[in-house]
Amino acid sequence: MYQVYPRSFADGNGDGEGDLPGLLAHLPYLADLGVDGLWISPWFPSPLADGGYDVSDFCDIHPMFGTLADADAVLREAHARGLRVIIDLVPNHTSDQHPWFRAALAAGPGSPERRRYFFRDGRGPDGDEPPNNWISAFGGSAWARVTEPDGRPGQWYLHLFAPEQPDLDWTEPAVLYDFDDVLRFWFDRGVDGLRIDAAPAMAKKLGLPDADYGGVAEFRTVDWHDNPHWDVEEVHDIFRRWRAIADTYDGDRAFVAEAVVSTPARLVRYLRPDEMHTAFNFPYLKSPWDAAALREVIDATLASFEPIGVPSTWVLTSHDEIRPVTRYGRPTTSSFFITDGEGEESDLALGTRRARAAALLMLALPGGAYIYQGEELGLPHVDDLPDEVLQDPMFLRSGGALRGRDGCRVPLPWSGSSPPFGFSPDGVLPWLPQPASWADLTVEAESGDESSTLSLYRAALRLRRGTDGLLGAPLVWRESAEEVLDFERAGALRCVVNLGDRPVDLGGSDVLLSSLPLVEGRLPVDGAAWVRPSDPVPASGG
Ligand code: GLC
Repeated sequence: MYQVYPRSFADGNGDGEGDLPGLLAHLPYLADLGVDGLWISPWFPSPLADGGYDVSDFCDIHPMFGTLADADAVLREAHARGLRVIIDLVPNHTSDQHPWFRAALAAGPGSPERRRYFFRDGRGPDGDEPPNNWISAFGGSAWARVTEPDGRPGQWYLHLFAPEQPDLDWTEPAVLYDFDDVLRFWFDRGVDGLRIDAAPAMAKKLGLPDADYGGVAEFRTVDWHDNPHWDVEEVHDIFRRWRAIADTYDGDRAFVAEAVVSTPARLVRYLRPDEMHTAFNFPYLKSPWDAAALREVIDATLASFEPIGVPSTWVLTSHDEIRPVTRYGRPTTSSFFITDGEGEESDLALGTRRARAAALLMLALPGGAYIYQGEELGLPHVDDLPDEVLQDPMFLRSGGALRGRDGCRVPLPWSGSSPPFGFSPDGVLPWLPQPASWADLTVEAESGDESSTLSLYRAALRLRRGTDGLLGAPLVWRESAEEVLDFERAGALRCVVNLGDRPVDLGGSDVLLSSLPLVEGRLPVDGAAWVRPSDPVPASGG
């Protein structure tokens, strides 16, 4: 699956912002790349306080992106090219500009309108302290105080993300029913699935008790156990309800959970047969570039997904992460929290070697893989965007302490030798400035270069699709040095990744694809190769 962040994919109308006509025009590129489908980040009307994850109408298209007719055209054309389309549903919160929230503000305390959200009186003598100690993902308290219609300081509302993203109360029947209609609206239009944003946030412990963050006031959800606003049991009731709706439709309709939870055991609870179909593999995404760590997360993933009969997924990055080329070129290659490695110098040549190897590793693993736009071009993270163009609430809310995620959302370079690199018509500046150094990383430049990262992704996706017996073939580890990952997909493909400090001898094997040129039959450091498997597999056990 290929993730499209529509604002930064391609500008069809020449206003410096990506849009659906731009996406439509580049669907042939995606079909040619060899992906099976797209996941499109939010395309709904939104004030863009959080890059579109603050939705003000769940059943329409942002005018900046186009119209519902454009969305229909994207669905139709994608389907005609054999591409499935998953869209991004953001059900934990709305925009503060959504009519439901505006009505809640206007209606005042105790009104049915306020029951759609979490409005509470404050603590302290004047109610001027937040109702509890919950924190926001973007820093500070998760509560904001409103001014009541009569002009007095009033109640507080909950926002686990930005203040412009008030949380919905999913115990309120009106919320449930309205979202049933949202699901049907998009399924009726032909979308093949929904990515469920911030899925574990959707249920809150009754009574909204204080959370124990273990003294760390950061939104590190992987460290949270028994947290009152994350991964709360009742969340699963919502997904069961939605699965029942999806199952009434013909064809395959899939839910993908965005669920960063503490353990694989907690994650697979979202994937029970009557809940979601699949989920992003964040432990894999966050793993450092280290053989033992990768082997461990691969094994843990397979061990948790295989018994429940759900295909594993693999992902290296997204619109929320440091781009791999930059991350793998830093001393800190893990990304357990967005700030990991921030400020460290990145050796981009090293990062590129590793990111290419990481791509071959990911695409050789059993199950689904997600590619984020620009990953296939080997784009680095743009670390040096000027402060005044940054839009991420993470930057704004942290008073600049966190740079945030804009650096992975810089518009794609398509062609030409200077900005806007074919993203917009010449002379139009894209909404975030592209580095001049991207001239060698355009789709056009890389298409003409067999050694480019784009050519590597194309070749890998083609082989992955065209290799008999690969689909569903189990992973079997082969004997190897500790710092080498070497596995076969039983009888179909062998993948060798060299994370050590000396070349690895491939023993004259028939190499199908390699992320770096072999030197005298040996795989260089930070290289990966796909090799024709030997028969029988000299297995070392799982
Ligand atoms: C998800 C999205 C992220 C957004 C957040 C709040 O994590 O991927 O971009 O900021 O949810 O909706």
